[in-house]
Amino acid sequence: MLDLTFLAGWQGLELASSLFLFLTSIILPTYPLALTRTAIAVGTYIHRSRSVEHNPECHISPAGSSAIDDGSRLVCQNLWKVFGDEGLDVADSVDPSLSREEVLAQTGCVLAVRNVSFNVRDGETFVIMGLSGSGKSTLVRCLGRLIEPTRGQIHIDGEDLLAMNKQQLRDIRRHKMGMVFQHFGNFPHKRVLENVVYGLQVQGIDKIVQLTRAAEVIDLVGLSGWEDRYPHELSGGMQQRVGLARALAVDPQILLFDEPFSALDPLIRREMQDQLIGLQQMVQKTMVFITHDFLEALKVGDRVAIMKDGEFVQIGTPEELVSNPIDDYVRDFTRDVPRSKVLTARSVMTPPRVYVAADEGLADLKDKLAAKKSECAVVIDEEDCFLGTVDLEDVHSAGNEHSGIASVMRRSCPIVAPDTRLEQVIPLAIAGDGPIVVMDGRRCIGTISRETAIAALVSDGGAAM
Ligand SMILES: Nc1ncnc2c1ncn2[C@@H]1O[C@H](COP(=O)(O)OP(=O)(O)OP(=O)(O)O)[C@@H](O)[C@H]1O
Ligand SMILES: [Mg+2]
Repeated sequence: MLDLTFLAGWQGLELASSLFLFLTSIILPTYPLALTRTAIAVGTYIHRSRSVEHNPECHISPAGSSAIDDGSRLVCQNLWKVFGDEGLDVADSVDPSLSREEVLAQTGCVLAVRNVSFNVRDGETFVIMGLSGSGKSTLVRCLGRLIEPTRGQIHIDGEDLLAMNKQQLRDIRRHKMGMVFQHFGNFPHKRVLENVVYGLQVQGIDKIVQLTRAAEVIDLVGLSGWEDRYPHELSGGMQQRVGLARALAVDPQILLFDEPFSALDPLIRREMQDQLIGLQQMVQKTMVFITHDFLEALKVGDRVAIMKDGEFVQIGTPEELVSNPIDDYVRDFTRDVPRSKVLTARSVMTPPRVYVAADEGLADLKDKLAAKKSECAVVIDEEDCFLGTVDLEDVHSAGNEHSGIASVMRRSCPIVAPDTRLEQVIPLAIAGDGPIVVMDGRRCIGTISRETAIAALVSDGGAAM
């Protein structure tokens, strides 16, 4: 069980503050604006206790490339963090063919983050995964400027984060960015309720409002009935939820999470993940979320970047990574993933190669199928709308080649939407004897045969269900 000991000093406060900020944004619609503003002030007060000064040694690449202003909320471009005395020189001159170990042996510098570029759209949860030491924490700390990148660019809503002075950086942290790390800094000598109202007390707001609000937040995180307990009387997950409930200050649009659930046992961890997903559905924040665990990435992430030795190896949706891993490193991460829960009809379907009209003859159809090496044709009307399917078996069963397609085509095929998970497609494939049709509106964009559906379940060593 996680021992969430109180973190003394700025870090504990900062973490508590971040979570405080996070929950504020969730509760925000139900509270008056004035209250929210006060909450913002508390969060920033806590953040102020650890503000990283602008480091003139940080080498900033020239800004202004079009990719940097592509409308994304967070853009990171060609970012390097090299630990060591000659860090900047190494970032400038390193031979791209040298591995991290070789660079370390030759220069004594650690390439913690090596030329990383990505963007995060508004409301997107972008997950970064990689083995221990791959550079995840260093990268996320660069994004919050808790450490200074050696080279590269980071833009938040089009603003150049690395060019900001101390005051500007403070403002960004006050209004735009919250950081949440593994440990939650609850006050050990305060009860749950006191922990939760603490931020509100500092704001000096009305006591009844404080209590009402605290009660709502405590209920939201599932701690009603535990208000009078001290943190040490709670389980690790409950303490973590107290931390979440305290996160009631600014309304940060961007949240950076560095393995917030990694020390929790599996059940509590799942609960916390579900809670985060529920909250995200309500508030649609822009999140960067670090984890070791692909199942966690799958659950919370819209896109996932896999990191190795300081570099991004592949970026994609969980489905893209599972269906098309770029190398063995990525494949290893996705190996235990239940494919039926990740893959969708779109990724396993076969796009139609032969379209025919219902009034065409079967002889022509046979020729078309042979020419396109296809076993199945999609029958459409004059507006390209789906009418049915016809395959070689249907043609043969017709007996008479002079009949029309209309006489043999299947009109009542099982139909699924493109984003239907394979786990829902499989029962249809097993129950029916024809192909499953994937429809986008009134158009058929693909078909899935029983064989295809079942083959998609099995990867080279992957988990099927
Ligand atoms: N302050 C530092 N000085 C020197 N090297 C560092 C420093 N911080 C991190 N590193 C090195 O940078 C590399 C990346 O470390 P980082 O903590 O970012 O990895 P990580 O992916 O977060 O690992 P984990 O999953 O274990 O948390 C490691 O080789 C680490 O030793
Ligand atoms: Mg780390």
